[in-house]
Amino acid sequence: MPELRCGTRAWPVEAGSNLLDALNGAGLGVPYSCRAGHCQACLVRCTAGEPLDAQPEALTPERRAAGWRLACQCRVVDDLAVETFDPLRDGAPARVARLDWPAGRVLRLWLEPERPLRYRPGQHLLLWTAAGVARPYSLASLPGEEPWLEFHIDCSAPGAFSQAAQALQVGDELRLGALASGALRYEPEWAAQPLWLLAGGTGLAPLWALLRQALAAGHQGPLRVLHASREAHYLSEPLQALAAAHDNLQVELLRREQLDAALAVPRLQARQLRALVCGPPAFVEACSRRLYMQGVPRGQILADAFLTHAEAGQR
Ligand code: FES
Repeated sequence: MPELRCGTRAWPVEAGSNLLDALNGAGLGVPYSCRAGHCQACLVRCTAGEPLDAQPEALTPERRAAGWRLACQCRVVDDLAVETFDPLRDGAPARVARLDWPAGRVLRLWLEPERPLRYRPGQHLLLWTAAGVARPYSLASLPGEEPWLEFHIDCSAPGAFSQAAQALQVGDELRLGALASGALRYEPEWAAQPLWLLAGGTGLAPLWALLRQALAAGHQGPLRVLHASREAHYLSEPLQALAAAHDNLQVELLRREQLDAALAVPRLQARQLRALVCGPPAFVEACSRRLYMQGVPRGQILADAFLTHAEAGQR
């Protein structure tokens, strides 16, 4: 059996064991979310030995050369020594600049990073509290336009991070972990095409950034924002303000059960349509299926599902 080592601990594991499971089975508390190589919440650094990595391309060559691996994608095949991500040593500091509870239990959180962060709308960032609680969140801010980083945190469901977030005060320090690519993006060559942005709950966060990116880029085709929510629509005012300022922007605030009817548009220009979808898995699945059935090519539907607190690993 290979030996797995982390800090001062060493223990035997079955050959072929998933590295994330082996570490968490021993109580190391490595955070995780997607378990699919996307969110980068499960980063660990290998200091001796090499695991079998199912997705080496998920990290940049520089990161890999520094020993970083995604634990959820690795299997232990030989003796291996790893370090878990230490937010104080490996994370970048950021301070809470502003907090707002616009409606329901959604927290809009603005962080001021100590050093500017280069990112694009659609990416996720791992946030760490001072107590070592971590969770990935989509960036809702517009890079280059806003000096702070904006996140939307759904505090309606139990979760270690959302619980800690409710106690945050302006000036508190958080740590920024890995920046992950995410599936959503806006391309300037879509400027004349119809674009739908479909959000479930706080899946609106990345679409809030992407919508403003599209408008800033001078998108001329019809823009349709559809926000389905169980609770109050937390961005209704700023969305309506944007719609009032842009003739080509239509905003619809719906209950989840109204979704199917809203997507069933007669004479849909399906071949031209681009759709960006974000929300819980069931919402993303329902939207993607409905769009596909109406003739929208799969490659024109970009979808990002986030896990609920119950499904995601909490440190
Ligand atoms: S990349 Fe490993 S949990 Fe998301």
